[in-house]
Amino acid sequence: MTGITCFRNIGQLVQADANSQPGVRLRKNCALLVKDGRILKILKESEVGPARAYAKVIDCQGRAVVPGFVDCHTHLIHAGERKDEMVDRMAGIDYMEILENGGGILSTVKATRRATEKDLYDSARKRIRRMMALGTTAFEIKSGYGLNFKSEMKMLNVGKKLRDSLKVPVTLTCLAAHAIPEGEDREAYLEDIIDNLPRFRNVADGVDIFCEHNVFTAADLRRLFLQAKLLGFDLRAHVDEFSHQGGCFDAAKLGALSCDHLEHAIPKDIQAMHAAGTTAVLMPGVTLFLGGEKHPLVHSMLDAGVTLALATDFNPGSSPTYNMQTVLYLAASMYRITPEQALAAGTYGGAKALGHEKLYGGLLIRQRADFNVLKTNDYRDMFYYFGENFVDQTYSAGRRVKGAKDPAA
Ligand code: NIG
Ligand code: FE
Repeated sequence: MTGITCFRNIGQLVQADANSQPGVRLRKNCALLVKDGRILKILKESEVGPARAYAKVIDCQGRAVVPGFVDCHTHLIHAGERKDEMVDRMAGIDYMEILENGGGILSTVKATRRATEKDLYDSARKRIRRMMALGTTAFEIKSGYGLNFKSEMKMLNVGKKLRDSLKVPVTLTCLAAHAIPEGEDREAYLEDIIDNLPRFRNVADGVDIFCEHNVFTAADLRRLFLQAKLLGFDLRAHVDEFSHQGGCFDAAKLGALSCDHLEHAIPKDIQAMHAAGTTAVLMPGVTLFLGGEKHPLVHSMLDAGVTLALATDFNPGSSPTYNMQTVLYLAASMYRITPEQALAAGTYGGAKALGHEKLYGGLLIRQRADFNVLKTNDYRDMFYYFGENFVDQTYSAGRRVKGAKDPAA
C-alpha cells in the first residue's frame, strides 16, 4: 500500500460530526491511515499488520488524537498592540467608551493603515505559525482595520497570500463594517461599503458587520446582508455582544452561516438560529479579557439544537490569545459545558460555522488529515490540568507542522 502513512497505537481517537452532536465520538486502540493528505481508513490496532505495508509508520504511543482546532473567528491580520488600553480598562474605563473616544478598534485602524502589506504579512504569518503549534489547523481571518476600500483590500490581499503560501484552510471575511471611520457619517460609510461589495468579492468569502449600540444598527445589517447575499457572500455577524440590538435575529433570518458573540441574545434569537441552521460562535476569551460577567444562554442554545462553535477572536483589543486550548477550557469552565461539548465546538462546530464541515474538523474518512497528537492518553487532560499546552504534534493534510517557538510579533 504505497503512499500510505499509518499512525498506529492511538489510545483514544476523537471524531466529531453532526451525528455526534453536541459531543464527540471516541474510539480506543486504533490506527489512522492517511493518503494524499486525507483520512483513508481507520483500523483497529490489531488490524494494522506489518510495517512494510506502509510508506511510513508513526507510533502514537497510546496517546489521544483529536481533530485539529478550527479557529472560525479571528482578526489576526493587524498592526500594533493595545497594552496601554488594557491597563486603562483595568483602571475601570469601558471598552466601548474607549472606542467612542477614538481609541480601541480605531487605534488599530491607524496602525494598520500605516503598515505595509509586507509588515502585515510577516506578523500575521508568525501568528498563524504560533497558533498552529498550539493545534489550530484551519482559520477564518477578517479585515476590519482598514475602514476604507484601499486598506480593507490590503488586509484581504495579505489573507490571500497567507492562504496561498501556507496551504492551510483560510476563510477570508470582509469586515469593512467593523466601526465607523473617524469623522465619517455612518450611513454614508455603509453606502460606500455596499457600493464596493462586488470588488471585495474577488478576495473575500464572507461579509461581517459589528452590530452594536453606537456602531451599526440591525437595519444596517439587513441592508448590507441583502446585498452581500445577492453577490453570493457567506454571512457572519458580530451581534448582541454588549447589548441586545436584534442583529442575531435578523442575521439568522437572512441565512447567516454564523452569529458570533451573542452574550445578549435572547430565546427568540436562539430559535431563529436553530430554524436557519446558523452556528453560534462563542468566544469566552473576550469575556475573560474584558472582565465581563454576562455569558450567552449556552444551555438554551444546546437545548434548542443550535450547533456551538468556539473561537479565539484573536485581536489586539478584546482577545489577544493564540490558544484554542485555552478557549476550550474557558468555555467548559465558564459556560458549564462538558469537555466533549467544548471539544466538538472547537473542531466540528468551527468547521460548520465556516461551511466546511465536510472537508475538515471531524477526523472522518475522506476529510483532510488535520489533527493533533496530544501529550497524554486522555483529551480531558486539557480541561483538567488547565494552563498547559497538551499538543505534542500537529498534522496538516497529514504533514507534521514544525513548532513555532518564537515569541509573538
Ligand atoms: O470581535 N467586537 C468587535 N470587534 C472585535 C474587537 C476588535 C478590537 O477591539 O480590535 C471583537 O471582539
Ligand atoms: Fe471579532
